[in-house]
Amino acid sequence: MNSAVPVIAIDGPSGSGKGAIAHRLAKKLGYHILDSGALYRLIGLAARRQEVAFADEAGLARLARGMEIEFVPTDDEEEPIRVMLGGEDVTVAIRTDEAGIDASRVAPIALVREAIKDLQRDFRQPPGLVADGRDMGTVVFVDADLKIYLTASVEARAERRHKQLIGKDISVSLHDLFLSIQERDERDMNRPVAPLKPAEDAVIIDSTSLDIDEVLNQVLALVAERIG
Ligand code: C5P
Repeated sequence: MNSAVPVIAIDGPSGSGKGAIAHRLAKKLGYHILDSGALYRLIGLAARRQEVAFADEAGLARLARGMEIEFVPTDDEEEPIRVMLGGEDVTVAIRTDEAGIDASRVAPIALVREAIKDLQRDFRQPPGLVADGRDMGTVVFVDADLKIYLTASVEARAERRHKQLIGKDISVSLHDLFLSIQERDERDMNRPVAPLKPAEDAVIIDSTSLDIDEVLNQVLALVAERIG
């Protein structure tokens, strides 16, 4: 880890718009990006494929350490990175709602979180990093230069996710999404290890009635103030 390299941590619940903001911000600043949620999704997917039980904590941690992953940047705004697992493009497979639920089942396991801590910190490379997740500001990059906690109402988040998935030809009902987001919030916020919560020094942005450009402008103003 290179603590001289600036980090912008963006945490928040699913569907808050973190991913979109993180990608636009990284592009604008020329920074690297860490989509930490994709790592938990990959562990869930690899576990299903290799038939490692979700109860087998040591097995999951081993799996997490051994994953051969690659994030390949694209010019596509809708799909800014392609995610590779063992040479296979699994971008679509990890974005389903089921993969999100699987991710939130492996994510509470301390051994699993520990197994990917260094991997996440290795993303901190010049000229800077935008890190998106649930514990970027509270655990992985406690010394981040700027910590944002991005949130929105469950209704707004379900509607956004619905639009996103429909755009990717993944069909799912709005009501089911609402329930699964609620379930995921519940699990992410109430787990004993690295629960989702704003860091004490985070700036909280509620995007319920803001569009992506409005959020991005607020974040850019904070970057100019804190990082220059
Ligand atoms: O952000 P995304 O929806 O892809 O994350 C999927 C799941 O991975 C989350 O619901 C959460 O349980 C877990 N996660 C986490 N810590 C992170 C990022 C994601 O626990 N830093």
